Amino acid sequence: EALEKGGYEHFMLKEIYEQPRAIHDSFRGRLNAKEGWVSLGGVKPYIKEIANADRIVIIACGTSWHAALVAEYYFEDLARIPVEVEYASEFRYRNPIIRKGDVVIAISQSGETADTLAALKMAKENGAFLFGIVNVVGSSISRITDSGSYTHAGPEIGVASTKAFTTQVTLLAMMAMMLGKERNTIAPKRFQKLLDEMEALPDKIETLLESNDYIETIAAQYKDATNALYLGRGTAFPIALEGALKLKEISYIHAEGYPAAEMKHGPIALIDENMPVFVIATEGENYEKVVSNIQEVKARKGKIIAIVTKGDTEVKAIADHTISIPSTDEVLVPILATIPFQLLSYHIAVMRGCNVDQPRNLAKSVTVE
Ligand code: G6P
Repeated sequence: EALEKGGYEHFMLKEIYEQPRAIHDSFRGRLNAKEGWVSLGGVKPYIKEIANADRIVIIACGTSWHAALVAEYYFEDLARIPVEVEYASEFRYRNPIIRKGDVVIAISQSGETADTLAALKMAKENGAFLFGIVNVVGSSISRITDSGSYTHAGPEIGVASTKAFTTQVTLLAMMAMMLGKERNTIAPKRFQKLLDEMEALPDKIETLLESNDYIETIAAQYKDATNALYLGRGTAFPIALEGALKLKEISYIHAEGYPAAEMKHGPIALIDENMPVFVIATEGENYEKVVSNIQEVKARKGKIIAIVTKGDTEVKAIADHTISIPSTDEVLVPILATIPFQLLSYHIAVMRGCNVDQPRNLAKSVTVE
């Protein structure tokens, strides 16, 4: 097992560090910035069918459901296709309306999650076109779907999903770009910028991983927290949910993710000097709004740990800690912003003596209902 961990103390840490390679593998041969194209083999033969879908319904569970939430922004923004995101377990039991003309995308690391599989079967019976975004080659979901694309993250052993998630998001961004191109809803300049930024991601992640020791020092200060709040807006909202899930899964600290603007409708009542608030405050359209959310937390003596874009000064001046990520297109921020949260959760869990790779009560693949 020590050999399999490749010198890392845990599979989770190894898998966090594998992300530059995993993401590279997930776009290799599928896009070329110099030549200006992106093409997923599983989408290409069905591009008309998917691009002209009445709507896309994305079903998933757990971390994969967070990737689905990010994809909702991608498909709507870049391809202007209406999207609904569903927990597989809710979708399958509520007599949903599915018709011919609907494209149902299932996202699953294992390809074996029982609820996701059952939801797909139901969608198939109702005439939907099924597309799978799966990591494990040959898995049940990859077999039942009409088409699909593998994430190529490689085996993920740690129960808490890391590289599987970032490669799912990478793949979904590529899919949205293809559909946007087909539907003429994405400006050529933006398309090219996204291609360039996608190719630059692995190096940017390498740079980001150099902050690991610094992130560990922040983790040390919050390891005894009993509650934590994660905030983000836009595509950073699902990353807040994922950050909170990662912390509760492996460190057993109660954590909630919230859209930053919703804080005033509840969570703000919980904020005092003992509440760490993790915020994604990267450059872009939502920046100033997030800054005011941070001020609201500070006014109540909450502790702010903010993910910012390299070079930021405004948030740095008011936050207790900032972690910088390299600048990139807003579409790709979720991929970079999620990595400091993975590392924070990892270090906090290790410091609390938790079984990081196999947290209590959790399974890597949930094949029962
Ligand atoms: C379990 C795992 C999670 C995973 C979820 C969905 O709860 O512990 O890490 O996100 O199942 O699994 P899937 O294989 O369908 O992505």
